[in-house]
Amino acid sequence: TLPERVKIVEVGPRDGLQNEKTLVPTETKIQLIDLLSESGLPVIEATSFVSPKWVPQMADQVEVMKGICRKPGVTYPVLTPNLKGFQAAVSIAGAKEVAIFGAASELFSKKNINCSVDESLLRFEEVMEAAREACVPVRGYVSCVLGCPYEGKVAPEKVAHVAKRLYSMGCYEISLGDTIGVGTPGSMSQMLAAVTREVPLNALAVHCHDTYGQALANILVALQMGISVVDSSVAGLGGCPYAQGASGNVATEDVVYMLHGLGIQTGVDMSKLMNAGAFICRILNRKTNSKVAQASCKL
Ligand code: HMG
Ligand code: MG
Repeated sequence: TLPERVKIVEVGPRDGLQNEKTLVPTETKIQLIDLLSESGLPVIEATSFVSPKWVPQMADQVEVMKGICRKPGVTYPVLTPNLKGFQAAVSIAGAKEVAIFGAASELFSKKNINCSVDESLLRFEEVMEAAREACVPVRGYVSCVLGCPYEGKVAPEKVAHVAKRLYSMGCYEISLGDTIGVGTPGSMSQMLAAVTREVPLNALAVHCHDTYGQALANILVALQMGISVVDSSVAGLGGCPYAQGASGNVATEDVVYMLHGLGIQTGVDMSKLMNAGAFICRILNRKTNSKVAQASCKL
């Protein structure tokens, strides 16, 4: 049975833009986030508090957080890999929610956040402690849940182990990332079977990149297994700078189209969402990766 309602976590302003080679003006990022807020999306991941040497595109994180118009009822989480990032996010930029991001693969962890999986969990414990004191909810990501660009296959048990650790340390939701979009409905259902033995279904989300064109099918399988939180990126923007060849997240427009077609509520206004997608594609001078937007676009 499918859920009646799905929460969409829009990651375009963060995951979508972090990989852009040329710096996107801060004002554009702010406008994009504000347009997305207007479309009825409940959660918009706004930016990340990572090293500007590692990800120059996110160096304006404080200005972005200060510039956006925070709509009541909408949350604007930000990525925080360590205590330094957490403190800047909360004390300087006024973030009300953060996300920590680990991986089910050692080599990816090393390339992405420069430490082993175990070291990352220690750093995350520090973030969790500070977050508890500040009453800031924390989301947890697990990357490479269906494959790693450096290690290849990733065992579902490894994913379940890291997901359980993040959940046990207090993350309210665990987002399972198919970072390089290699999963299929087959591997997705096997992985979810392992993870749901350790983490309750209502605390899980899926985060599918669409490199192999499997994202919507993988999401459908996750919905059928009872997951009701889906990450996506407007216009299908994105990729991870430490996962070469990974394409964008599944497009939010395409997820909303599928969900509404299934009679599942999202609260999202499709035409406003498409406006946000058209806006960012115009500025990036890029064709949208959303099939729905392409189909509805009459040139
Ligand atoms: P490091 O070099 O190991 O950190 O980087 P360090 O603690 O040794 O410090 C080195 C320097 O970085 C110092 O500055 C620190 O102050 C600074 P210096 O003294 O050299 O001038 N530093 C920071 N600056 C700003 N913000 C911070 C911070 N921490 C240290 N928070 C670090 C470790 C994690 C910072 C680094 O590896 C990094 O920034 N990595 C970027 C990771 C990233 O953003 N990846 C993309 C997002 S994850 C993703 O896309 C996957 C996801 O979408 C899910 C999926 O698809 O699977 C979430
Ligand atoms: Mg991602």
